[in-house]
Amino acid sequence: MGLFGSKTKSLVGLDIGSSSVKVCELQQIGKGATRRFRLQKLGSVPLPSDAIVDGDIMDGNAVASAIRQVLAEHKIKAKDMAISVSGQQVMVKKVTFPLMSPAELAESVRWEAESFFPAGQGLDSYALDYDLIEERAQDGNMDVVLVACRKDKLESYISCVAQAGCVPRVVDVDVFALQNAYEMNSMGAGRDEVVALVNLGATFTNLTMMVGGKSVFWRDMTWGSGRYVEKLMEDWGLGREAAELLKRGQAAEGRNPEEVQPSINAVSDAFADELSRTLDFFKSSFKVDRLDRVLLAGGGSQVHGLVDVLADRLRVSIDRFNPFQLVEMDGRTEDPEVVRELGSAAAVVVGLALRQVGDR
Ligand SMILES: Nc1ncnc2c1ncn2[C@@H]1O[C@H](COP(=O)(O)OP(=O)(O)OP(=O)(O)O)[C@@H](O)[C@H]1O
Ligand SMILES: [Mg+2]
Repeated sequence: MGLFGSKTKSLVGLDIGSSSVKVCELQQIGKGATRRFRLQKLGSVPLPSDAIVDGDIMDGNAVASAIRQVLAEHKIKAKDMAISVSGQQVMVKKVTFPLMSPAELAESVRWEAESFFPAGQGLDSYALDYDLIEERAQDGNMDVVLVACRKDKLESYISCVAQAGCVPRVVDVDVFALQNAYEMNSMGAGRDEVVALVNLGATFTNLTMMVGGKSVFWRDMTWGSGRYVEKLMEDWGLGREAAELLKRGQAAEGRNPEEVQPSINAVSDAFADELSRTLDFFKSSFKVDRLDRVLLAGGGSQVHGLVDVLADRLRVSIDRFNPFQLVEMDGRTEDPEVVRELGSAAAVVVGLALRQVGDR
């Protein structure tokens, strides 16, 4: 799914997150069922905390210069990028229509989309796209995924990438990129499971629910691991940088990670509450009564103790998602240190690097 695109060509994945800009280049080896991917380039550059706030680019120059820097540091010459958007101004929803022609579907989607937008905001302020998931002759219906993104948000991301001298050939959505990274790494495994794929970023948590190997629900929660930093600053009177270090398990401003762990656990507990509310909503609206496992990605998944708190509260197995599980590394092109450091925080950028110009 992309909000726009043209001919087939590999793209560089560019994930503009609120805490850092991440970049990834994959090389496809083989085709069809036997295709594999080899990691070519991977890197990230941190962003100042006021450059992107609540998913809105506040300082385009800082973001553009971080993009230039990460590309230069990793000697990435290609200019064609797959980028993504997320957050409250992006809406993704599965809708079931009776089977109809492509032209009728295009019309029906516009009608359906009207109910999607906040009161008083119509199609004019949103870019809309959709993709067919499945046509079912047996019940005469078709499932379609609708995506809407506020045009001003989309434009600010596109112009920032252009300012950095790049061409955003595909604009994806974080949750879809996450899903693509999962599908590439699972190779069809876990088809009979109900899996929650959860990407805990700095500002948002992107969630997609996979049932029988298919994504059926997508949600961006306004809950990010930046909350740990705020809580540590508040509870321990720390500066932002020190709080960030402690959150990452390093001593700072005379405090050690063990003594601040109760503050960290309190935030993990609040996250478990928020996540279980969303999971309950999913279960009741989709009439799904089980959850087999949670796969946790995003930089926030590395917070000490979070996996244990979630396993305890949600009573389900929690695994860390490794976006490189089936990605080949030849030891020449990639930097193992960067791969280790980014780890599951690279889930979205790996999903973006899988995109090609013109695919949907
Ligand atoms: N080793 C670590 N331990 C704890 N937290 C970490 C670690 N590494 C990164 N983080 C946290 O992960 C967050 C960044 O994650 P990620 O890169 O997934 O977010 P983002 O894409 O920049 O944000 P968003 O998508 O929400 O705008 C930061 O809040 C950072 O503090
Ligand atoms: Mg992110």
